[in-house]
Amino acid sequence: MADLEGQLLQALNDKECIADSGDFAKSQGVDHMAVVGVIRSLQASEMIVAEDIDHFRYALTDESQTYLAAGSPEAQVFAAVGPDGISLAELKVKVPGEAGDVGFKQAMQQKWLALDKSGGEPRVVRKVDSIVDATQALLADVAAGKEVPKADAENLAKKRKLIKPEQWKTYKLTKGPKFALERKKPATDLTADMLAKGTWRTQEFKDYNFNALGVLPTGGHLHPLLKVRTQFRKIFTQMGFEEMPTNQYVESSFWNFDALFQPQQHPARDAHDTFFLTKPAATPSDRGVPADYLQRVQSVHEVGGFGSAGYGYSWKLAEAEKNLLRTHTTAVSSRMLYRLANQPGGFKPAKYFSIDRVFRNEAVDRTHLAEFHQVEGLVCDRGLTLGDLIGVLQQFFSRLGLKKLRFKPAYNPYTEPSMEIFSYSEQLGKWMEVGNSGMFRPEMLRPMGLPEDVNVIAWGLSLERPTMILYGIDNIRDLFGHKVSLSMVRRNPICRLGL
Ligand code: PHE
Repeated sequence: MADLEGQLLQALNDKECIADSGDFAKSQGVDHMAVVGVIRSLQASEMIVAEDIDHFRYALTDESQTYLAAGSPEAQVFAAVGPDGISLAELKVKVPGEAGDVGFKQAMQQKWLALDKSGGEPRVVRKVDSIVDATQALLADVAAGKEVPKADAENLAKKRKLIKPEQWKTYKLTKGPKFALERKKPATDLTADMLAKGTWRTQEFKDYNFNALGVLPTGGHLHPLLKVRTQFRKIFTQMGFEEMPTNQYVESSFWNFDALFQPQQHPARDAHDTFFLTKPAATPSDRGVPADYLQRVQSVHEVGGFGSAGYGYSWKLAEAEKNLLRTHTTAVSSRMLYRLANQPGGFKPAKYFSIDRVFRNEAVDRTHLAEFHQVEGLVCDRGLTLGDLIGVLQQFFSRLGLKKLRFKPAYNPYTEPSMEIFSYSEQLGKWMEVGNSGMFRPEMLRPMGLPEDVNVIAWGLSLERPTMILYGIDNIRDLFGHKVSLSMVRRNPICRLGL
């Protein structure tokens, strides 16, 4: 091929023009298609200019090739009939098939033959002594590439289908703006070497092909946690819960702990358990926390109220202002409940949920990371009881496919009573802890301004635990963090809860 390219460039250089690439192909003894390949590539490099030459001709069909040798069907039939005539049956034997049928019809139309029905069985007889086989002569002309009268050509092509039209292109070639005897391969990359030697100044670079299709992006795969989150969202929304805004990882200790009646000397508020921020280390309490509410929180911690004795210690504003990475999404719930209590038009019952990231200063092992996701639900309404909490939990967990539940008394600073939730795993044959729950304490709700008869039932669980069970992942570091294999993310199936 490279050779053919060289020959073509040489010929063009010698004669300034190649009048017809078809003739050039013949002179080189190669197929014209091979020359076309070379033309296209040289054209793309602007080394030559190619002008189309359109060609048209008729060619014989396979059937008409045989008539070129043996005579047209009508001539074959005329010959078979002979001077004495012949019966139709005999004619069919002598000129069988298509040729016999077509030839008989044509010869009758030409009035070369007639059908004599005078003596019993009809006989085919000649009406003329001799004929000229014009069809065969026309086919010979077509085969020789000679021009034939238009009417004859159309009759042979359309009515008798003995010849077929053929169209093709060849090219007139002239030198292009970048003509050269040898192709300079344009560089596809600027190299350090070109820069060092300065050859980039004269180097030809390949044009960008803006029409080239790129590699299909392999993005767009959802992580298992996101799939399970979608399922949880569905369950919550089906149960009439509204999602809380959780897009704030940094919280003040106030919303994360103090508003939840968690005393300031509680061990969870230690730097060993919580990530505190150093920059900025604090959120001034006048930002978003009204002074009267702050005052009521301080007072409930110090001396109690609403039937509580409080903790009896000296509450420090500076401690409440400390910034931290939220340790639970209950920080979001406390903000939302305060808003609910103080919204224009007064309190209205609400059902809220959230699913988002929380952070704990913990030693990392195969089941613990320093960050994970919490799923939290809460119902805020008048006159709610522990029975309501158990009922909602039964509904919620049965939608996950966990129908057998048990509850165990537990402790949270902000709920009373509190219950750990256990579910029986048929797979493992044992009871497993699946969540934590309770009724928010009056020490939390009343300072916010929620009416006395309003209760809040709430529960929380991790998103990771059910995801690991569903996807058969036994090391949390395979699910979340820098060790996660991307192919795991690409391959994992959609999530179906409750099946
Ligand atoms: N905040 C609790 C936790 O971090 C979960 C919880 C939410 C418990 C709501 C009771 C009520 O485990």
